[in-house]
Amino acid sequence: MKLEAVILPKELKIKVRLVVVMNAGELKKKYFDFFKSKGHAVIPSASLIPSNDASVLFNTAGMQPLVPFLLGQKHPLGKRLVSLQKCLRTVDFDNIGDNIHHTFFQMLGNWSLGDYFKKEAITWSFEFLTDSKWLNISIKRLAVTVYEGDKIVPRDEESYTLWRSLGVPEKRVAFLGKDNFWIAGETGPCGPSSEIFYWTGIGEAPEVFDPNDNNWVEIWNDVFMSYNKLDDGHVAPLIQKNVDTGMGLERTLAILNGKKSAYETDLFSAIIDEIESISGKKYGENLREMRIIADHIRAIVFVLGDENVVLPSNVDRGYILRRLIRRAARYGKMLGVQNLFLKRLAEVVVLEYYVMYPELGKNAERIYSELQKEEEKFQLTLEKGLHEFDRMVSQGLISGVNAFLLFQSYGFPLEMTEELAREKGLNVDLKGFNIEFEKHQELSRAGAEKKFKGGLGEVNEQTIKYHTATHLLAEALRRIISKEIKQRGSNITPERLRFDFNFDRKLTLEEIKKVEDEVNRVIGLELAVKREEMDLEKALKRGAQAEFGVKYPPKVSVYFIGDYSKEVCGGPHVENTKQIGKFKIVKEESVAAGIRRIKAVVE
Ligand code: ALA
Repeated sequence: MKLEAVILPKELKIKVRLVVVMNAGELKKKYFDFFKSKGHAVIPSASLIPSNDASVLFNTAGMQPLVPFLLGQKHPLGKRLVSLQKCLRTVDFDNIGDNIHHTFFQMLGNWSLGDYFKKEAITWSFEFLTDSKWLNISIKRLAVTVYEGDKIVPRDEESYTLWRSLGVPEKRVAFLGKDNFWIAGETGPCGPSSEIFYWTGIGEAPEVFDPNDNNWVEIWNDVFMSYNKLDDGHVAPLIQKNVDTGMGLERTLAILNGKKSAYETDLFSAIIDEIESISGKKYGENLREMRIIADHIRAIVFVLGDENVVLPSNVDRGYILRRLIRRAARYGKMLGVQNLFLKRLAEVVVLEYYVMYPELGKNAERIYSELQKEEEKFQLTLEKGLHEFDRMVSQGLISGVNAFLLFQSYGFPLEMTEELAREKGLNVDLKGFNIEFEKHQELSRAGAEKKFKGGLGEVNEQTIKYHTATHLLAEALRRIISKEIKQRGSNITPERLRFDFNFDRKLTLEEIKKVEDEVNRVIGLELAVKREEMDLEKALKRGAQAEFGVKYPPKVSVYFIGDYSKEVCGGPHVENTKQIGKFKIVKEESVAAGIRRIKAVVE
């Protein structure tokens, strides 16, 4: 099918546009031009779906596709990069509808991979924002935060001095704690940050900056990424000092156009116009509902139109997509829309965005047909489910059995039932829901949530093999490489094991091969794996390995693999090493100064 036929439906009427001072394309171009003039190479937005071993379901920041390079791998385009990255954050679900939060958003960012550091990063952020050649924002409306320090990372006096030398008054600098130490999830590259805020309130900005006043909106974050938080919670210095920055395109555009919110800019105006026309209601009188629909439809289109295929389902990414679609459909009902309407809105989003994001045009057919299918399916049960819900409300609490009934028979994601309940001032019995859920042996939401917290919590045949293979790898490293080696972190998914350990140089190819051969040799010995419970003290006395820095209870399980390895561990493990299969190391890299990481698979 020809592109135009899909993305330009005949009946679509384009309304008269807002007067815009700057649009998204212009802002992107300015940002790229500025950082190109400072020696940065432009990299295209990566897919919304992380490709490297991330602990998140979607890319939530511009730095995520760059993790291997922040850890030290050489980037083919050099040490200075700039991009506009598609991002999706579901932690902000409940904030959608306010002025500044979005599920899908676009992040402008510039990076130094072990090249420049605080001085250049701060000076350039300031120059780009305030110089009349660039964004020309008045310094009178700006304020900044810097890191107040902790036991490991010192107070950031250098950033403070830099901001002051650029003319930021003392009263417009706030030293903050954990809010100014940035990390994408639970583990990974991280560091102290310095954030720039813009005064969106009426009249002049107050002399003293109060970071808790919502009129101050964060628009830019400079992260001095020189640490890595490992799986064991330990924060270790990286081998290189990086800069990771992020400027929210939506927020900045709103500011530049003198608007309180991006919903009132050309990023959303055509979508909101269409919602008004479909519902016959006014945006000004239905702000929250229309913003939620507009936000969600944009996110839905970008997920369904991504280079990597994600379809609505009950697990992981598919579940997030399903929640977005069904929530948008419910908000449509709240506006009194009776017919299916999401495909129509999706057409507007594609039309508005396909020039900047050609994948939306390419995948338009998939976007429309999948969206239509999912909305139709939900339309059949939504109304009945809402009646059912009203009946349940009279009982004063939404029991687990009832929440599960809504989930199973009416397709209400649990979060939707929780939201409905909140609107009535009621709670949902989550424990009860989980019991029902487990009874039906579905792993959906639990799986999705655990992954968001970093690392899958799944236990299955494959992950059990990886648990045992990890013990063998640790012991092989001690026997072949150095007896000083200790585990510094471990993470297992059904696809691979990841093992961090102390060692101060890269392993040679021969060493890697020797370790691999050793693990396979022991697998071939068909050793039995046995568990014994004992006091921690006794286990350590008997020479059982334990992870560095981890607090264990006084009574522990020790796993013995023949007499090859003894390790304190909660399990589970295979019964015999022959069940593991063939072991293969696929990567060996540095993750922090003195800490190496091995990724391995079993086949
Ligand atoms: N990675 C940083 C953020 O997302 C810049 O705020």
